[in-house]
Amino acid sequence: MLSLDNSLYLSSGGQRECYIHPEDNTKVIKVTRANHGIYRFEKKEQNRRNDNIIDYRYFNSIKNRVVDYSFITRCYGWVETSKGLGLVVDRVQNYDGSEVLTFREAVRKKLLSKDKEQELLDELTQYLSGNKILFADATTNNILLMRIDEENFRLVIIDGLGARRLGLKEWIHNHVWLINRIRIREQIRKLWKDYESIR
Ligand SMILES: Nc1ncnc2c1ncn2[C@@H]1O[C@H](COP(=O)(O)OP(=O)(O)O)[C@@H](O)[C@H]1O
Ligand SMILES: [Mg+2]
Repeated sequence: MLSLDNSLYLSSGGQRECYIHPEDNTKVIKVTRANHGIYRFEKKEQNRRNDNIIDYRYFNSIKNRVVDYSFITRCYGWVETSKGLGLVVDRVQNYDGSEVLTFREAVRKKLLSKDKEQELLDELTQYLSGNKILFADATTNNILLMRIDEENFRLVIIDGLGARRLGLKEWIHNHVWLINRIRIREQIRKLWKDYESIR
């Protein structure tokens, strides 16, 4: 079992806490917060709403057809940790080791010019539509701004891919060709709207 102590803690969002992998600092381990609201539900419903399970399933459903993982994090499977079952994924890091900001934080701080931000969002849009990837929880909060070198940045999605909840709707979004395409387009539009609302 891997011990996750506070020195490895990175950050947390609505449902999960993220820790640096104690044996591989190029990966992070995501664990569901012990006091999270999904535990109110019966087991089956917990699983349908569990972001780790959703991430794991969606990654496995696309990994045989997607070859470029520059804009999303790969998923490596489950590990037992001191904080419960964890999901191992790629860690997003800046070239200089500085703290990685979410895209939302970076926009709020006006770190980049508006043109640059839109160029990065365009690149991400091309990636999602080109690879037919569903970004179900398409917000600037689920994207990190990665510094590749002094001048270059990339937006990397770390959460919200595939579905918000597993079930019939999710199955249809994934398997019915036309609906899949429409959903992807709607999600991209939602992401741009979220961006414009904070800029
Ligand atoms: N792959 C990653 N690499 C680096 N930091 C990450 C990664 N995934 C998440 N984080 C950090 O943890 C925070 C919460 O992660 P997230 O997956 O969005 O959790 P939640 O499912 O609770 O919303 C992010 O805002 C980010 O700061
Ligand atoms: Mg999140």
